[in-house]
Amino acid sequence: MRRTYFCVLKQSIMVDVILGLQWGDEGKGKIVDYFAPKYDIIARFQGGPNAGHTLYVNGTKMVLHQIPSGIFHHDKINIIGNGVVLDPVTLKKECDAVATMGIDVKKNLFISERTNIIIPSHRALDKASELSKGEAKIGSTLKGIGPAYMDKTGRNALRVGDLLDKKFISKYIALRMKHQKILDSYNFNEDISEMESEFFECIEFLKTLNIINCEYFINEQIAQGKKVLAEGAQGSMLDIDFGTFPFVTSSNTISAGVCTGLGISPKQIGEVFGISKAYCTRVGSGPFPTELHDAKGEELRKIGSEFGATTGRPRRCGWIDLVALKYTCMINGVTQIIMTKADILDSFETLDLGVAYEMEGKQIDYVPFQLVGTPVSPVWKTMQGWNIDSTKMKNEAELPATMKSYIEFINTYLGVPVKYVSNGPGRDQIIHL
Ligand code: GDP
Ligand code: IMO
Ligand code: MG
Repeated sequence: MRRTYFCVLKQSIMVDVILGLQWGDEGKGKIVDYFAPKYDIIARFQGGPNAGHTLYVNGTKMVLHQIPSGIFHHDKINIIGNGVVLDPVTLKKECDAVATMGIDVKKNLFISERTNIIIPSHRALDKASELSKGEAKIGSTLKGIGPAYMDKTGRNALRVGDLLDKKFISKYIALRMKHQKILDSYNFNEDISEMESEFFECIEFLKTLNIINCEYFINEQIAQGKKVLAEGAQGSMLDIDFGTFPFVTSSNTISAGVCTGLGISPKQIGEVFGISKAYCTRVGSGPFPTELHDAKGEELRKIGSEFGATTGRPRRCGWIDLVALKYTCMINGVTQIIMTKADILDSFETLDLGVAYEMEGKQIDYVPFQLVGTPVSPVWKTMQGWNIDSTKMKNEAELPATMKSYIEFINTYLGVPVKYVSNGPGRDQIIHL
C-alpha cells in the first residue's frame, strides 16, 4: 500500500491533548466528551482498565475504562493506541455496554496492533504483589497494569498484532508459565483457569474489531487535515517518572506520552488542556500534602460523591495543591486549565489553597524528589467561598466575584490561565471564560 504520511510535514499542528494534572479522576471523561465534536479522532495513548472515565449520554451515566470518551459521537474515530495496555475482557464488556446505546464499535473503534495485552496472570501478579507488600501496598486497582507494563519493558509481552499469528497460543503459554513461577514465589494459589476461559472468548471478539497500524493510520489522517484529541488517563502526579514514586501507575501519563503512545511527532502537539478539580482527591496510597483528615474532607467526599469509578473505593479529599499543579503545568506544557467540580465548593464558607510545603523546618514552593516518608505540611492561603448554587450558571458574567477571585489567584500563581469552569457533571455544565 502506498503510504502518505510524509505529507504531515506540510500540515499545521493537529493534535491537542486533554490530561489530568492531579492524582486522577479530575473529570477527563466529561471534558473529552464535551470537546469531541471539534475533533475527528479521539485517542487513548496510555494506561488501561485502571482508568474510569465518567460521562453522561442523554442523562445516562456511562463509565469507560478502555474505550476513548469520544465513542458516543457517531461520526468520530476512536483509537486505542500502542501505549495502552488492553484487557480483552474489560473491552468486550464495554463494547457490549456501548452497543446498548446504539454504538457500533466495529465502525468507529480502531486498535493499534502494537497495543500490549493484559492476560489473566497479570491480574493475579498484581494482586500477589500488592498482598506481599502489606501496609506498604501501592493501592493498585488490581487490573494487572504494573505487571503488563513490566512485560512490555521486559520485552515479553503479547501484543494485539500477535493475535493473528499462529504462534499466539504457544507465546501465551510461555508467558503464563513464566508468570506461574513468580506467582509460586509469592505462594499465590488462586485458580485463574476460569478467568482464562473468559479471556479466550474475549480474544475471539477482539479479533473481529478494527486492528490497525496506528502510527501510519493516524499520520495519514493528520496529513488529510484531520484533528486529533489525545485523551490522558490517570493524572500527572501518578506518572511513572514524575509522580509520587513508587505510589504511581506504570505509564507516562504526561503530554510526552502522547508521542510514544500513538506514534506521532512532538511537532504535532498543539493545545495541552490540563484538568484540575477545584480541590483535590487521590485514591490509593501515597503522599497527598493537602489531604484533609477532618470533617471538611468528609464533606468534600460526600458532596463530591468521591468514590472510585473503577474500584468504588472512597477517594481521599483535600484542598487544591498549587505547588503540585504548578509542577504538572510545567512538565506537560499546559496551555490552558479546565477547572472541574467548582460546584462542589458551593457551600463552603472559606476555601484553603496549598501554596507551599513545609518540610524539615523549611518552606519550599517546589515538588521535592522525596515526598514519600518525609512529613510535609501545607502552607495555606485562605479565601472567601462563594456560598451560592453555581450549577445553573451558563456564562462568565454570572460567576460570583468570590469565585472569580479564587480563579484569578490560581491563574497568577500558576502562570497558566483557567479557561473553563465545569459546574456539574452534565455535558452542558461548563463555562468558557
Ligand atoms: P476521570 O477519571 O478524570 O474521567 O474522572 P471520573 O469519572 O473518575 O471522576 C469524575 C467524577 O466527577 C465523575 O463522577 C463525573 O461525572 C463528575 N464530574 C465531572 N465534572 C464535574 C463537575 O464539574 N461537577 C460535578 N459535580 N461533577 C463532575
Ligand atoms: P483515571 O483515568 C485515580 C491509582 C491507583 C493506585 C495507583 C496505581 O480514572 O483518572 P495501578 O492500577 O495503575 O497500578 O494503580 O494509581 N490509579 C488511579 N487513581 N484515577 C485513575 O484513573 C487511576 N488509575 C490508577 O489507585 O494508587
Ligand atoms: Mg476516573
